[in-house]
Amino acid sequence: MSTHPFHPGLLKQIAAGHGTPVYVYDEATILARINEFKAHLEGIPVRLLYAMKANHCPPLLDVMRRCGLGIDAVSPGELELVLRLGFDPAHILYSANNMTDHEMRYAVEAGVTMNIGELSGLRRLGEAFGESDVCVRINPQIGAGHHAHVVTGGDRSKFGIPVEQMDRVLDVAARYDLRIVGLHQHIGSGILSTEILWNAAAVILETARRLNDLQFINVGGGLGVPYRAGEAPLDLAEFRSTIVASIRKFVASHPSKSLEIRFEPGRYFTAESGVLLSRVNTIKRTGSRTFAGLDTGMGHLLRPALYDAWHTICNLSRPDGTPKTYDVVGNICESADFFARDRGVPELAEGDIVAILDTGAYGMSLSSTYNMRPLPAEVWIHTDGTPELIRRRLTPTEFAMAYLNEYGRR
Ligand SMILES: Cc1ncc(COP(=O)(O)O)c(C=O)c1O
Repeated sequence: MSTHPFHPGLLKQIAAGHGTPVYVYDEATILARINEFKAHLEGIPVRLLYAMKANHCPPLLDVMRRCGLGIDAVSPGELELVLRLGFDPAHILYSANNMTDHEMRYAVEAGVTMNIGELSGLRRLGEAFGESDVCVRINPQIGAGHHAHVVTGGDRSKFGIPVEQMDRVLDVAARYDLRIVGLHQHIGSGILSTEILWNAAAVILETARRLNDLQFINVGGGLGVPYRAGEAPLDLAEFRSTIVASIRKFVASHPSKSLEIRFEPGRYFTAESGVLLSRVNTIKRTGSRTFAGLDTGMGHLLRPALYDAWHTICNLSRPDGTPKTYDVVGNICESADFFARDRGVPELAEGDIVAILDTGAYGMSLSSTYNMRPLPAEVWIHTDGTPELIRRRLTPTEFAMAYLNEYGRR
């Protein structure tokens, strides 16, 4: 079983040197994804943003900044982090849900454009900061994604202003002299069909015809990656010949002569660049099942429990063993705490090191310390292949002391 893009020897060395659980990220893979995507966008005026919720480890954000990407930020914490890391506020879009007036003030003072997805939010912005520039998030009434929980368009979605309410958007904007400089949508995550992406893009382009002051159209992220062997990746050539070609024609016909097209992927840039290494602590056979119990759990990688998501699991210690069927489970006191059910993995023994692949997006950033288990360590593999420990795993003592400290206790 391939551990591509990682060399299994290097992964074993990292697990031996830094212990487990540990997330490992490969810089070269992140760069490859960015460059590949950029190459397919040639010919349109484009700015790429990175949806930092996918993975906000600072070296990864540094890569995005060095590559000229802006940021899709969704909370004051995310915004504060990227401003401190030197991102240009002009290239940050602030798309928080249910924004408070305080957050609006913070974003305005930081010089960041706000992306508003509720009519009431637009009104509040107008009342407090009339004559501002604003981006409006629409719901194109098309949604998609790898699981119902990640669909962010359509009638059941809380996100965006329904596109059929565009007249009301224009009324509110006129009443408060708000200048709609951006139009945004994001329909979901993990989408591998260019047809769905195009159907949604067509809605935002049509809506944009009504807005002469537009400086950018943000068609969102959502581009999927294949998690299972044999699953077809997103067809970038088709993406280019349909979506990018239509956008090129659209830009040429739009009255705004400085229109920028924005994409804001998260998963696409980072998922395949990450792996979670863990140790098999327990092998347990019951009447009908064999459990392989790891030294990590749903707190460190929530996607299987939350989305029933598939991640390939490799036995690094004995990759050539005869495959056996396991329920690969975590060390958290929840029955939802699993990584795979009925999964064939080369025979596992206690002490083996496993690699859980494609965990660079929505892995560490979705993690928690539930059951008071400290977070995994993180290792960064530089483009020359050198690994560097970028975040240490706290010991249980350090973790408990830091916790008590937050309550003013020692
Ligand atoms: C507004 C917005 N943009 C971009 C993204 C990134 O999605 P993905 O990682 O699928 O590209 C998300 C994910 O939830 C989002 O909510």
